[in-house]
Order: sequence, then structure tokens, then C-alpha cells
Amino acid sequence: MTKFALITGGTKGIGKAVAQILAKAGYNLILTYGNDVEAAQFVQAEFTERFNTEIFILQADITSEKSIQVIFDFLKSKDIRLFSLIFNAGITSRTRFEDIKQEEWERVFYANVHFPVFLLQKILSRIEIGGNVLFTGSLMGVYPHSVSLSYGVTKSAVHALVQNFVKFMAPYKIRVNAIAPGFVDTDWQKTKPAEIRRNIENKIALERFCDPDELAEIYKLIVENNYLNGEIITVSGGYSYK
Ligand SMILES: NC(=O)c1ccc[n+]([C@@H]2O[C@H](COP(=O)([O-])OP(=O)(O)OC[C@H]3O[C@@H](n4cnc5c(N)ncnc54)[C@H](OP(=O)(O)O)[C@@H]3O)[C@@H](O)[C@H]2O)c1
Repeated sequence: MTKFALITGGTKGIGKAVAQILAKAGYNLILTYGNDVEAAQFVQAEFTERFNTEIFILQADITSEKSIQVIFDFLKSKDIRLFSLIFNAGITSRTRFEDIKQEEWERVFYANVHFPVFLLQKILSRIEIGGNVLFTGSLMGVYPHSVSLSYGVTKSAVHALVQNFVKFMAPYKIRVNAIAPGFVDTDWQKTKPAEIRRNIENKIALERFCDPDELAEIYKLIVENNYLNGEIITVSGGYSYK
């Protein structure tokens, strides 16, 4: 039977690269996205043509509680059980610490931490025994020096969530892990000024950003390896923040 994976933020960047490697391996996919329906439809058409699998797209904004019900209803209506649930979408806040309002702080927390907790609670019975949950954390959750306080703290919370979840997922035989990527060449990074990008490259032993496709290889390994559990796997190219 073909396995299903759901990837939040699966239509661009890291999520799209993970979607591609899993589609190539024969997984059926549900790719959620926030706003850009055209990009989502483009990915759906491209992957459907290239790979012999089912590709669904679903708008589900992770800053909105309603999206939990949207995803639940979708899985129920198609009677889909997931082998892999990949919490990849995340948001940041670029407002200076001195100016950030509580509402904006809570928005980042909701999207990066609360949304995955309550989505997992809602769709737990739709995850296969022996399946897995995989989070996209961040190197900024390991080295606490993000330019965004809410981002750094929520990504640390994501890592803590993974390690705490192991116990709660054990009765269901569901593995839970995170990847903490360093600097990956997606739109998220490409929009940074050249000087900042050079500063980042100078702190990486390999002197370059990670290609989303090489990162996606690690996602596939974690999805498929039956013994990885409770791990936070850093993929940074040899980063030193000094
Ligand atoms: N790139 C890096 O260097 C890096 C490093 C460490 C961790 N990360 C983490 O990796 C994840 C993906 O980052 P990326 O660089 O691949 O980003 P990206 O290239 O900007 O792709 C973002 C994806 O997430 C979706 N998305 C954005 N906001 C959303 C929302 N509110 N609700 C639902 N979906 C939303 C986008 O869909 P729409 O465009 O339709 O909204 C798109 O599919 C994030 O959790 C980020 O924190 C990235």
C-alpha cells in the first residue's frame, strides 16, 4: 500500500524539496501552504506529471486555529492515514525586541509551537502505527542568538517538544524527531542582503548555504529509519557562531 506524508509548507523551499524526494520514492503527499495558491498549483501539476503518486494541496495557514479542523476534515473525507507528518512551516517576527507587541509574540508561538501540538492531538488517530512525526527546528534553537527573539525561543521549544513527545507517542509506536537546519538557500535566505549572506557564509566551515535538496535527503532518512527517535539532528555545514 502506498504511504501518505503530509508536509506543512510543502510548496516552497525546504518543504518542496522534501516533497520532491518523497514523491520520487513513491509517497502520496498532502502539501499545505499559507497564501500562494499559484505556487501550490504549480508544484501539484509538476509533481503529478513527474511522479506516479497522488499529490494533494491544501491551504492551511498555521497562524489560524481553523486550519487544524481544515486538515482534520480533509484527511477524514478522503479516509487517509498518514505514515509521516512533517511539521515544516514556521514563521518569524522581524520586529525589534524593543517594539514587539504581545499579539505578534503570541502569533509566532501559535504558529511554531501551539499549532503542531493541537494538530497532532486532533489527527493522532490518523497516523499509522509505526509512523513518524518530523519537525523542522532550527540551528537558532541550538545556538540562542537569532536576530528574532520569538523565533529563537520557539525553535528551542520545538526541540524540547520533540524530546518530550517521545514518551507520549510511545504507546502509539510513533517516532518523533527534528531536523535543525543551519542556513538553507530558500526564499527565506535569498531575500537577505548580500553582505549579510557573506557574513553567514564566513561562519560556515563549508563556506556556503545548504541546498534544499541535500537537506531533503536527511528528511527522507529520518522518515524511513525505524530506530531514530527523539533526535534533534543539526545540519549546518560546520557552523560556528563566534
Ligand atoms: N531557510 C533556512 O535557512 C532555514 C533554516 C532553519 C530553519 N528553517 C525553517 O524551515 C521551514 C521552512 O523554511 P523555508 O526556508 O523552506 O521557507 P520558504 O522557502 O519561505 O517556504 C515556506 C513554505 O511555508 C509556507 N508557509 C509560510 N507561511 C505559512 C503560514 N502562515 N501557514 C502555512 N504555510 C506557510 C509557504 O507557503 P505560502 O508561500 O503559500 O505561504 C511555503 O510553502 C521554517 O520552519 C523555517 O523556520 C529554515
